Amino acid sequence: MSIEENALVVAGLSASYGVVPAIRNVNLTIRTGQIVTIVGANGAGKSTLIKTICGLVRATAGTVHLFGEDITGQSPDRLVPKGLSVVPEGRRLFSEMTLLENLELGAFARSDKVAVRRDLDRVLDLFPELRERLSTMAGTFSGGQQQMIAVARALMSSPRLLLLDEPTIGLAPAVVDRIAELVTTIAGTGVNVLLVEQNAETALSVADYAYILEGGSIVAEDKASVLAESPEVQRAYLGI
Ligand SMILES: Nc1ncnc2c1ncn2[C@@H]1O[C@H](COP(=O)(O)OP(=O)(O)OP(=O)(O)O)[C@@H](O)[C@H]1O
Ligand SMILES: [Mg+2]
Repeated sequence: MSIEENALVVAGLSASYGVVPAIRNVNLTIRTGQIVTIVGANGAGKSTLIKTICGLVRATAGTVHLFGEDITGQSPDRLVPKGLSVVPEGRRLFSEMTLLENLELGAFARSDKVAVRRDLDRVLDLFPELRERLSTMAGTFSGGQQQMIAVARALMSSPRLLLLDEPTIGLAPAVVDRIAELVTTIAGTGVNVLLVEQNAETALSVADYAYILEGGSIVAEDKASVLAESPEVQRAYLGI
């Protein structure tokens, strides 16, 4: 399969903090139309991998291709117009700004204001509970709602590839299920998704393909349904 038929191709990617390596020789591919997950424990290097893909951490080796274009080292503001949007760990909302202002910030790079309006409507269709509360300060929403706002904000840039860094962490099981459903719904609208999670059960249940990250290296990869049945994965990540 040629590189253009893939949403994302990460090849031999490494990064370090000072002299300490954080990710080593990571190879991963998101084929167009797929939900891909990276499962890893606390400190495995998941956020570093996402930050290196979107140019917030400098790669010491390797390349990143987005829809066939070499984007290695390009900063997030250059990547948003190319279709890459990130929901960072910890959500990073502007809590003293309204929900609507947060969503509008997600569309900062777009000049097509009519389309932005239409997308706001579409995005709010995914989050009916938010529609009535557009003038509420973002910081006053519950944790689950703030996560949804962060996802909604990322969708406002009209991405072709969405990177989600641990969207379910710290949320109640019912809210985790809701986020998982949303990921599937978003993928159904034609957005490719890279879902990074400690919550292996949820991640493997929504993803098509999965990678296991340990100590900064990919140690296993397969169809998510296959990894969910693997005894090693079950022992280490599913508590079975
Ligand atoms: N800014 C930083 N400076 C130095 N070391 C860092 C920095 N950020 C992360 N690290 C280290 O790099 C390694 C990978 O961290 P990273 O945050 O990527 O892991 P993670 O898989 O996202 O973990 P978590 O599940 O807790 O979010 C860890 O050993 C961490 O301590
Ligand atoms: Mg992290």
